[in-house]
Amino acid sequence: MEKLVINGKTPLKGDVTISGAKNAAVAILPATLLIDGICTIDNVPNISDVKIYCDILQDLGAKITWNNEHEITVDTRNINSYNSPLEKTSKFRASYYLIGSLLGRFGHAQVGMPGGCNLGARPIDQHIKGFEALGAKVDVSQGKITATAEDLIGTSVYLDMVSVGATINVMLAAVLAEGTTIIDNVAKEPHIVDVANFLNTMGADIRGAGTDVIKINGVKKLHGNATYSIVPDQIEAGTFMLAAVATKGDVTIRNCITKHLEPIIAKIIEMGAEVDDIDGDNIRVWCTKRPKKINIKTLPYPGFPTDLQPQMGVILSMADGTSIINESIWESRFQYTEELNKMGAKISAHGKTAVFDGVEGLVGAPVYASDLRAGAALIIAGICAEGTTEVYNLSHIDRGYENIEEKFKKLGANIERVVE
Ligand code: EPZ
Repeated sequence: MEKLVINGKTPLKGDVTISGAKNAAVAILPATLLIDGICTIDNVPNISDVKIYCDILQDLGAKITWNNEHEITVDTRNINSYNSPLEKTSKFRASYYLIGSLLGRFGHAQVGMPGGCNLGARPIDQHIKGFEALGAKVDVSQGKITATAEDLIGTSVYLDMVSVGATINVMLAAVLAEGTTIIDNVAKEPHIVDVANFLNTMGADIRGAGTDVIKINGVKKLHGNATYSIVPDQIEAGTFMLAAVATKGDVTIRNCITKHLEPIIAKIIEMGAEVDDIDGDNIRVWCTKRPKKINIKTLPYPGFPTDLQPQMGVILSMADGTSIINESIWESRFQYTEELNKMGAKISAHGKTAVFDGVEGLVGAPVYASDLRAGAALIIAGICAEGTTEVYNLSHIDRGYENIEEKFKKLGANIERVVE
């Protein structure tokens, strides 16, 4: 069993370089199945979700070569299976993209149900609605999803709610369909645009990604024969921005896209911390006084991202006054508040709302990560706290953050990964 041992309390100072976006990488990797050719992907984050995906693609017959730590070449000319078993797909959420890409290329997919962070119910009805609209038959039983289609015919799909996964999955299924597909009420996250850009680089014809409507003109084949660099991770960048405020430090975040960080910048300024957008790719965040109380409502992009809600919660647990977070995306994303209360916070969470009565400071304690972003939040809390904090359940954190303790150590944190 591994744990992170953190001795606070340290103001983080220095520079940190952001890796490629997890939620783009875990969509672009399965998207390579649509290519009857070879492609190269750069700025791939070194995280366990990516490693599992490479494993799954190789099981399906893909050939994957790691050219260096962050660049892979993928050959999907000889895919020889459309089945991906539950024991692998259940390890993470994004395995559901295998359905859209296998269905889109071969008209057949049999994929074990996805797993992923325990955030409450995580249905995939909108994904299925899109596949059926394109002409597929979809069966969900015995822990797997089976989708088959004689032909996929372009159509109009209105998503009943804004869904990152459904937007990407329907896009994947439509790229090689006959005719034009219009997907309405789509998600606009940076990783959606990145997947569309990747597919267009490989020969697709997708327009409107990043707006409310995506239009896809089906093409016969994706040629590959190109290199694509994954977008910097908006959520990792936001994690370090919020860590700078929480620890009253001074951190420059490098290799990010500040346009994607506007909701976080706005809230950091509202709390009374400082931000300097250096040149659109690098941003400095510093904080010299106790943050003011603020309220947060998580929303689809360009609203405040739910994936930064726990990290923001750490700041609010020590802010001057009472703050409220309304989590509008997930049913249960406040498990981390019980862990912060073990560290001296005063948070009461009920359903989709949590009330934070700011305390002067936190005290170290053994805490357990319930999901990926809660884990990142508990690391930040440990760096802010007096004394020693031990963070358990690191497998959640390693799914989405590359070398997280090394990056925090470089910023001055007293943090070690220990095998018990
Ligand atoms: C993606 O999850 C991300 N995961 C999540 O990040 C992120 O929290 C979420 O988008 C919202 O931004 C990946 O990209 C791998 P949704 P996803 O479909 O696609 C409901 C992280 O920490 N819904 O946008 O599963 C759903 O229940 C992870 O990196 C349906 O009802 O999220 C939720 O309430 C955690 N039916 C809302 O929509 C559906 O068919 C948004 O979910 C699909 C979704």
